[in-house]
Amino acid sequence: MAVNSNDVEAIVRQVLASMQGGVAPSAAPRSAAGGQIPATGRVAVLTSLKHFDVKEYPIPEVGDDDILVKVEGCGVCGTDAHEYKNDPFSLIPVALGHEGTGEIVKIGKNVTKDSAGKPIGVGDKIVTCMIFKDDPDITMFDLNKKNVGGADVYGLLQEDASNMNGWFADYILIRGALGSTFFNVSDLDLDSRILIEPCAVLVHAVERAKTTDILRFNSRVVVQGCGPIGLICIAILKTMGIANIVAVDGNEGRLEFAKKLGATGTVNFANYKGIEALTEGVKDAFGGKLADFAFQCTGNPHAHANIYKFIRNGGGLCELGFFINGGDATINPHFDLCSKEITLVGSWVYTLRDYVTTFAFLRSAKSIGLPLSDLITDRFPLEKINEALETNLAMTGLKIAIVNE
Ligand SMILES: NC(=O)c1ccc[n+]([C@@H]2O[C@H](COP(=O)([O-])OP(=O)(O)OC[C@H]3O[C@@H](n4cnc5c(N)ncnc54)[C@H](O)[C@@H]3O)[C@@H](O)[C@H]2O)c1
Ligand SMILES: [Zn+2]
Repeated sequence: MAVNSNDVEAIVRQVLASMQGGVAPSAAPRSAAGGQIPATGRVAVLTSLKHFDVKEYPIPEVGDDDILVKVEGCGVCGTDAHEYKNDPFSLIPVALGHEGTGEIVKIGKNVTKDSAGKPIGVGDKIVTCMIFKDDPDITMFDLNKKNVGGADVYGLLQEDASNMNGWFADYILIRGALGSTFFNVSDLDLDSRILIEPCAVLVHAVERAKTTDILRFNSRVVVQGCGPIGLICIAILKTMGIANIVAVDGNEGRLEFAKKLGATGTVNFANYKGIEALTEGVKDAFGGKLADFAFQCTGNPHAHANIYKFIRNGGGLCELGFFINGGDATINPHFDLCSKEITLVGSWVYTLRDYVTTFAFLRSAKSIGLPLSDLITDRFPLEKINEALETNLAMTGLKIAIVNE
């Protein structure tokens, strides 16, 4: 294991303090090497629709329960794109960026462990999860105990006194008083850490799927939609050992990538006229059989209606494509649900426990050589944040990320 210079400095200080019988080092925030933390840092603030200003703010005070993180990178999410375009959550002015990661440069004396109980300190790499401000019950690690619908995240908070509460920045202040949750992910590389948040969405969806008792080792699984969400779904199924996965999309490049991540068959819906023909295409890809289980990973209501046709009688469906309202879908309750006895689950974000499972998934994916890093197709420096969001809207790549030098 490489020894971090910050760790060395912390140890030296501790030894010196004990030799001098001086103030215990834990009485003050533990900080990185003196002079490493500048007086100010940049924050990308969405100040109006389709416009970020990169502002310079003083580095805030780090309280006893707080953590100051030097940001290394942050993925651009569909939610950021919605905020950029329409501000549906009325947050402007807002410091966006919630798929971020970085290195702890200063930490309050009360913060010694992460949300999973793992020791944490200066020099460790970190990600944040939800902010469970007024409902501590949701922080329980019990799957499905409670839906996290009401929780906040860093990067979607109203502007406040700290000014540093989004990950599209040089520094972010993680505050204990807000009910922050965070994890020490020092053993994961930067690309893996940038992908943690979207991967947790899929870990949760797969956990929801498993509650149907239909998704099995030898299941035939169809994944509809091969954006980052569907592609990560395929990678997770692959690491679980599921060997019969058919990907459906209209984009050949994305379907090719689906194969690299574990899809055994692909169906380009643009090549089929009508749902009957498309269903035959999916069946053919499974060697003449319908799917046992389906994951719906598009935000298109027609795609929701279509997917029932791809599933066998008694099969299962996980619908996770509608993080935001995409409109109504028309299904036939007799043909699609009742007479087929489909077991349907919805999936919405993740729990704390899913985060810990996600770290294990990312390690497994790497160990079997899945090219997950290739999901990050475009990297921009912070000052090009507007360009990064425009690239996301243009849909020319997959995952767009801001990466600090
Ligand atoms: N459940 C959650 O908590 C959660 C979290 C994040 C995102 N999401 C949702 O997941 C969805 C996918 O996210 P993404 O980032 O991958 O989006 P994306 O737009 O990059 O990908 C969607 C893919 O679906 C394909 N597609 C569109 N219509 C189709 C159809 N009829 N049949 C097959 N494929 C079709 C598109 O070609 C595209 O490749 C979004 O709608 C988002 O709201 C849900
Ligand atoms: Zn996100």
